[in-house]
Parts: sequence; C-alpha cells; structure tokens
Amino acid sequence: MSSSTEPLRVAVLLSGRGSNLGALINAVAAGTLPVRIVGAFSNKADAPGLQLAAAAGIATQVFDARAFADKSAFESALFAAVAASGAELVVLAGFMRILSAATVEPWRGRLINIHPSLLPRYQGLHTHERAIAAGDHEHGASVHFVTPVLDGGPVLMQVRVPILPGDTPDALAARLLPQEHRLLVAAVRLIAERRVHLDGDHIRVDGVELAEPLRLP
Ligand code: GRF
Repeated sequence: MSSSTEPLRVAVLLSGRGSNLGALINAVAAGTLPVRIVGAFSNKADAPGLQLAAAAGIATQVFDARAFADKSAFESALFAAVAASGAELVVLAGFMRILSAATVEPWRGRLINIHPSLLPRYQGLHTHERAIAAGDHEHGASVHFVTPVLDGGPVLMQVRVPILPGDTPDALAARLLPQEHRLLVAAVRLIAERRVHLDGDHIRVDGVELAEPLRLP
C-alpha cells in the first residue's frame, strides 16, 4: 500500500444502477472520503452506474463474460485490468457475478462487498423479501471482506433499519438504500484511513480484533 498520506486507490465493480458508486463519488467530491476512484468496471455495457462514473471523470471498462471462452478467462481479464488500474482496494457494489476462489484469494483483505442483509442472515438474492417473510423486525446491510464463500466472508460493518407492518420488499429496499450508502462510505473511509486489517478470518480495527461487526449508528 502507498503511504498513509496518499488517498487510497479504489476500483468499483458493478452490474447495474450504481447508486453505491454514486455515494462514494459524492463523498470524495465533498472531501469526506480520502480515496481516489481509479476505475469503474462492469460486466454489463449498459449498466447505468457506468454513466455515473464517466460523468465524474472516472475511467470505465466493460468485460462481458459472453465474450470470453469461460468464467476463468473472463475473471482473469477483468482482474488484470483492475490490477493495472493500480487499485489497492476493490469494492463490489452491486456486481452480480459470483467470483471464483482463484480470483478472490489473491485479493483477500483488499476486496469488499456490500450486501443488503444482516449477514449471516440471507446470503444470496431476494434478501428484503426473505426478511419480511421470516417475520423479522429488523433488516439491514453488511460490508464484508470477500472470501470464496458467497456472502460468507468476515463482516466489517453493518447498518440496521426497522421492518414496519405492511412493508413490501420494495418499500423496505427503499428505506435501506440510503443507509447502505452511508454504510459503504463509512466502511471504505475506515479502510482508507489504514485502520482495518484482515488477518486470516479475523478483522482488526486499530489493532483490536472485532468480536462482532461494527455497527453504524
Ligand atoms: C445494493 O442493494 C447492494 O447492497 C447490492 O446490490 C445493490 C446495488 O445497488 N449488492 P446499486 O447498483 O449500488 O444502486
């Protein structure tokens, strides 16, 4: 990593809307997030998030999995480009492809994902619907380090929102999204301040091992 006075170089991978990328862009512009977003990478050429990136002057690259012989060739090309961008941290922000262990392992401790549930609850898809169906009173989002286990890596930080009577998945998702944005910015800020280290499956913040995820107020 570069010296602690330099902004952390961050690459963002996305497949769609890109509102989490937008939150990072806004925080950088506001001077509250000491990072430089060195690239936005997508598997979808028409991902709206790419437009957001381009409007902010961030280099964009598209890697369409269908253009490669297999998953391994796709991931190799994508992560070669990510490495070439100089990224020190890779953020999966709505990146809808499952990465293989061979891709994830070399980036261990430098690859995070934002997931819309209170992990370990509701790994995978349709998290809002599942939380409502289970009768939960609380839902939330998690930022975790990526390991070969899907949505299973060590969780750095979470934010919680209430589930209200009559909530629909859409209503719950809409309530959660602004909190996701706060969460991602806060988690990336902590990493950019060089305060977070992953040691095996243990997260240390300021040298102290986390017994449970940090909670965003
Ligand atoms: C977010 O809900 C995120 O938690 C999940 O995918 C969604 C991406 O939204 N992983 P956006 O593309 O950042 O708006």
